[in-house]
Amino acid sequence: MQLKNNEKYKNYFVNKKYNITTFGCQMNEHDSERISYILEDLGYTKTDDRNDADFILFNTCLVRENAELKLYGQVSSLKKLKEENPEKIIAVSGCMMQTSVAREVIEKKHKEVDIIFGTKNINSLPDLLFKYLETGERVIDVSEDNVKDDYVNYNSKNNFQAYVNIMRGCDNFCSYCIVPQSRGREESRRPSHIIEEIENLVKNGYKEITLLGQNVNSYGNKSDFNVTFPELLEKCAKIEGLQRLRFTTSHPKDLSDDLIRVIKENDNICNYFHLPMQSGSDKVLKDMNRKYNKEQYLEKARKLKEEIPGIAISTDIIVGYPTETEEDFQETLDVCRKVGFDTAFTFKYSPRPKTKAAKLDPIDDKIVQDRFDRLLDTLYPIFNEKNKEYVGKVVEVLLESESKNNKNVLTGRTDTFKLVHVKADKNLIGQIVKVKITDNTSFTISGELVQD
Ligand code: 5AD
Ligand code: SF4
Repeated sequence: MQLKNNEKYKNYFVNKKYNITTFGCQMNEHDSERISYILEDLGYTKTDDRNDADFILFNTCLVRENAELKLYGQVSSLKKLKEENPEKIIAVSGCMMQTSVAREVIEKKHKEVDIIFGTKNINSLPDLLFKYLETGERVIDVSEDNVKDDYVNYNSKNNFQAYVNIMRGCDNFCSYCIVPQSRGREESRRPSHIIEEIENLVKNGYKEITLLGQNVNSYGNKSDFNVTFPELLEKCAKIEGLQRLRFTTSHPKDLSDDLIRVIKENDNICNYFHLPMQSGSDKVLKDMNRKYNKEQYLEKARKLKEEIPGIAISTDIIVGYPTETEEDFQETLDVCRKVGFDTAFTFKYSPRPKTKAAKLDPIDDKIVQDRFDRLLDTLYPIFNEKNKEYVGKVVEVLLESESKNNKNVLTGRTDTFKLVHVKADKNLIGQIVKVKITDNTSFTISGELVQD
């Protein structure tokens, strides 16, 4: 890294602190992990107190408008801090900086921001910092052609679970979605790089790996190597010592029988599938450019359950797409009941700049809110039923952290991604333990440790 070798700034970052606020998806979380690795490599240490930090970064998301508005608010609140402490460095990165509309708001209205960089410029951060320190002038790098950005070093959230990027970008152009603009066209990383990265993580004691991509099922399309996603997944699963393998996100149109077979045949691939449906109405799905209909979606979910008994299925649902009628919404509720989702991420439609759907007139807020409330009223009892099926069973749980509300309780996940609460000593964090489930809510299951 250039900056580290720069004599002038060799000791500059020692004793300096950084703070990162991350908005959005796991991809962004992973980017923040990479950024924190770079900052710590320079000499910075992490602080959870934003006001105490010398380098304050917002890693942004554009998928829905509320994340965007929240960002503007949080950056504005730093105006005074920057005025009083001009030596503090404020930076904004991520998806919002990839589109000119959102970037211009930061550039023009937020003079307190010193460094701006995009999703493909993470490795340039040391150079950008160096340039800023030299000139005192705002620096911006959102170039799309940063070929050296296949950087794998990062600080994972703990020393037993890690994300591994397998691809970036998306070519699907769902009518409501800004990701193809913010993350760019689909590009897959070479299988050998991915395998090597996971092998190293496993050698270092990591137990659970999550493969990340906007649409992992189309891995390998358009690339010069001949490896499909099921083939890659199988290669990863065969890595000796890897206990749990997850992946996200999938597109239902690309979920193949081969992928189902690979999950079924490899015990360390978790029995959990995130299958974003968005809507249950054929008409709305067509308007959204999703390229599957209700029946095809139900068929994929049915096949997953038939082939892999006990598999948990989660989904993403958008309520209030501009062309959605009450009948269309009823179709969505119908799919929820028929599939019996284990959990769901539910969103009110939010118009995003330059997407096809943004040209359509939105539905009245009150109607959207009413549908949203009815969707949750339908889903919560289904989640509860699903979780109740665990009561009385003994499950394996990877213990992740102390519960926020109760220090004597640890939280962890089953391979089906159920959130588990269990009384246990915190030195068990990072271990896979057996838990007898005694209780449940719509969102968690809880129980007691089973001693071997
Ligand atoms: N409005 C609401 N929800 C959206 N999502 C993506 N774009 C929008 C939007 N414009 C949701 C989809 C996607 C998830 C990551 O975010 O459900 O699967
Ligand atoms: Fe967005 Fe659709 Fe791509 Fe998912 S598949 S990132 S919803 S365009």
